[in-house]
Amino acid sequence: MCGIVGYAGDRPCRDILFRGLRKLEYRGYDSAGISVITEGQFDLLHSVGNLDRLEEILNQMPNQSHLGIAHTRWATHGRPSNENAHPHLDCTGRFAIVLNGIVENYLALREQLQGEGHEFTSETDAEVVAHLIERAFRGDLREAAAEAFRQMEGHFTYVAITTEDPETMVAVRKETPLVIGLGEKENFLASAVTAFLSETRTVIFPDDAELVTVTRDSVVITDLDGNVIERQAEEVDWDEDAAEKGGYETFMLKEINEQPTALADTLAERVTHEGRVELEGLGLEDGDIRRLRQVIIVACGTSHHAGLVGKYALEKWARLPVEIDVASEFRYRDPVIGPDTLTIAITQSGETADTLAAMRLARQAGSKVLAITNIVGSQATREADGVLFTRAGLEIGVAATKTFEAQVLAVILLALYLAEVRGHLADEYVKQLTEEIRRVPTMLNGYLEDGRLAQIEAVATRYAKERFFLYLGRNIGLPVCMEGALKLKEISYIPSESYAAGEMKHGPIALLDEGSPVVVVATDGHTYEKLISNIQEVKARGAHVIAVASEGNKAIADMADEVFYVPKTDEVLSPLLATVPLQLFAYYVATANGESVDQPRNLAKTVTVE
Ligand code: AGP
Repeated sequence: MCGIVGYAGDRPCRDILFRGLRKLEYRGYDSAGISVITEGQFDLLHSVGNLDRLEEILNQMPNQSHLGIAHTRWATHGRPSNENAHPHLDCTGRFAIVLNGIVENYLALREQLQGEGHEFTSETDAEVVAHLIERAFRGDLREAAAEAFRQMEGHFTYVAITTEDPETMVAVRKETPLVIGLGEKENFLASAVTAFLSETRTVIFPDDAELVTVTRDSVVITDLDGNVIERQAEEVDWDEDAAEKGGYETFMLKEINEQPTALADTLAERVTHEGRVELEGLGLEDGDIRRLRQVIIVACGTSHHAGLVGKYALEKWARLPVEIDVASEFRYRDPVIGPDTLTIAITQSGETADTLAAMRLARQAGSKVLAITNIVGSQATREADGVLFTRAGLEIGVAATKTFEAQVLAVILLALYLAEVRGHLADEYVKQLTEEIRRVPTMLNGYLEDGRLAQIEAVATRYAKERFFLYLGRNIGLPVCMEGALKLKEISYIPSESYAAGEMKHGPIALLDEGSPVVVVATDGHTYEKLISNIQEVKARGAHVIAVASEGNKAIADMADEVFYVPKTDEVLSPLLATVPLQLFAYYVATANGESVDQPRNLAKTVTVE
């Protein structure tokens, strides 16, 4: 997730662009850059680190230009560096582009362009766009940008400018945000309204595959063939705070809604056209993978719950014994580790002190260490033998939501990859699974758009004053319960306990009384019937059951007091869907009680102390 700003107008634009970037810093801040056109030439600034670094050198660029583009980066392809920072130029230095998103076929395009003599200066996927435009340019930037778009796969937005036409910028989007701001003798482009809200509130939201050609005095929207599309401008009445949250009340709600994108980004380029999983940068040769005898997973909090899902997937598909522990315990154990052990550390921040210590212990004992993290350049990436990046974008809400979903997907992909290399799964089975995995972001998107949030909010509001919640699940539904209960604790401060449903009769059932709320994850799977018996047991004690169930399961509505239906999918993938209503339930309980969900008391987003 990166932030893009563009300006064409009467005023000198350097500082306008920089102020726009400041408003988009929440989208990423590992490097940044600005490119403006002054007297037919590009001026270009790049910096590594957050926007303070760019501000320090901003005066090196004259503030005379009236057209330019700017970018704040969240690294996905290529480490944070000056070379990888946007804007990127083509070989001739006539075209500059900024991009947000992922160009999935960039390697094939890059090879093709290199074969034709194009020289690349960065490791990014984005740079191909500058060269594609250079190759396609016949005097019209819009046509060249359209031609580039036709050749690109993935989900992205880019803005291009050229010294050949220094009054014009052209932008296009595909499944990632782009908004046009209309001003007096000036117009703006950005990833989010917040970038130009202090300048104008008149906006247009273009659709996918619509070319937006912007000058000081005009905004023209066309399809890829140049046919003009009429789009009505609208006025936004958000304040700056709301705009930063994309119109959502909180970052947490925004991030819950970003989960389909987090999944699509984490999946991008990792499944081949033949349906196989391909993962790079793991630091493991095929021989290492075949020799593995054991996997250890270490993590904290929500990341630990993602690891628990991974345990089921790794055992089922890769047939590897998996031990999992919270990092704060693991680091003080004397674990049995050998050279045939793979330790997987899951940490969205890549900076959690206990997880880093557990990684060091595992490495000293001779294990290879693989980090699953969301942050390029984090400490975990420096200390691991290999890295599998989640690509959830920056998460601001203290309660992890979209990073959990991306971690679960990453560990599922890893399990499939290890299984393939170890020869444990038939190609056809893997293909079916990867086809289903590809459907999940769309299913989740449909789920979030389907008006179900209102039902969850209504139920949450009814139960918001309860003093205790028990969460029950079995098998892969158990980590979903643990995550649901953690979310509730974190943001609503209501005590909650998550338990393996079969263990309930060994103690926790004593907690139940008339009307006690019990949340049960009862999605379809091989332990479903057992879970139904547990539901009957709690109902017999007068408890109220709130069930998460697979769509099409009508029978459960007769047993449970409330049902949150989720789309049906493969059992191992079900946590990707079943967790979401529990995130929302916790969210709405907390908001009904007036709690500050983005900054819950006593918690920090990243725990860098022991
Ligand atoms: C989750 O909502 C919490 N914020 C917390 O449990 C978190 O998952 C934990 O601190 C681990 O963080 P990490 O993934 O950055 O290592």
